Amino acid sequence: MTDSAAIPPPFAAGGAELIDGRAMAAAIRGELRATVEKLSENGVRPGLAVALVGEDPASAVYVGGKIKACKEIGIRSIEARLSATTTTAQLIELIDDWNADDSVDGILVQLPLPKGIDTQAVVERIAPDKDVDGFGADNLGRLAQGKPRLVACTPFGVMEMLKRWGKLHNWTPAGKRAVVVGRSITVGRPMALLLLGADATVTICHSRTADLAGAVGQAEIVVAAAGQRHLIQGEWIAQGAVVIDVGIHRGDDGKLTGDVDFAAASQRARAITPVPGGVGPMTIAMLMANTVSACRQRRGLGPVTG
Ligand code: GUN
Repeated sequence: MTDSAAIPPPFAAGGAELIDGRAMAAAIRGELRATVEKLSENGVRPGLAVALVGEDPASAVYVGGKIKACKEIGIRSIEARLSATTTTAQLIELIDDWNADDSVDGILVQLPLPKGIDTQAVVERIAPDKDVDGFGADNLGRLAQGKPRLVACTPFGVMEMLKRWGKLHNWTPAGKRAVVVGRSITVGRPMALLLLGADATVTICHSRTADLAGAVGQAEIVVAAAGQRHLIQGEWIAQGAVVIDVGIHRGDDGKLTGDVDFAAASQRARAITPVPGGVGPMTIAMLMANTVSACRQRRGLGPVTG
C-alpha cells in the first residue's frame, strides 16, 4: 500500500518547497466530481454559462480550460461566443436571459471585454447569486463585511492553497505579516480581504507604493498580483517567507513566468508557487467550486463558503 504522507514534497532548485497547484486543483476537481455525482442522484445538475466576446486568444484558451473542467466534473456548460462588435445592450440581454434561466447556476463573462463595452454595467447585471466570479458589488461587499458568499476565483484559490499547504505543515496565515502586491478588483483587493479574514496582518502595495522592496522584505506571506513580469526580486524576499505568484507572462524565450523572479526567490522562500502550475489551475478549480456552491445555495442545499 502506498503511504502518500511518505512521498517527499517537490522542491525548487533554490531550496524552497514547491506548492503544486496542478496537483491540488486535480484533488479539488475530484472532490467536486463526487459532490456533483451526489447532486445528480437527487436530479440536480449544476450549470455554468460562459460568455466569450471578441477574438482575444488568451481569453479563448482560458474559456476552453473552464469548459473542459466542467465536463470533467459533470457540470453542464453553456457557451456563448459573441463577436467583438457586440454592444453592451446585447450582452446585457444575454445576461438577463441567463439570470432568468433556472438551469443556469453560474454566469461568467470572460474579461477583458472589447473596447466599447461597459464592463462595469455588464458585471453588475449578473444576479449576485449566480456571480461565480465574485466581481459584483454584492459579493465584494459581503467579503468586505467578513461574510463572504461567492468569492473571486483566483484569490479564493490562493487561500485554498495556503490552507491545504498549511495543513501539511501545521502552518496558518493567522498572525502573519502578509503583503499583497496589486489592488485590482479581480485579485488584489479580495485577496487582502481574505487574508484579513484569516487573521493575517495585511499590507496592500501598488504602483504608487514608495518602498516596495522594503514592504515585501517584511512579509511572511507575499502574494504577487501586480501584472508585471519579475517585478518582485528574489533578494527582496524575507528568509522563510511563503510566496504566491499570481502573475503569468510569456518571456522573450517563449516560456511562461510570473510576477516573481522565481529562481532567486526560491533561494530564500520556505515555499513558493511555480508558474505555470501554481495559481492558474486553482483559479479554474475554484470557479467549479463556486458553481457547485451557487447551485447548492440556490436550491437551499447548504452553505456556500465555510
Ligand atoms: N480574465 C482573467 N481572469 C479572469 C477571471 O477570473 N474571470 C473572468 N471573468 N475573466 C478573467
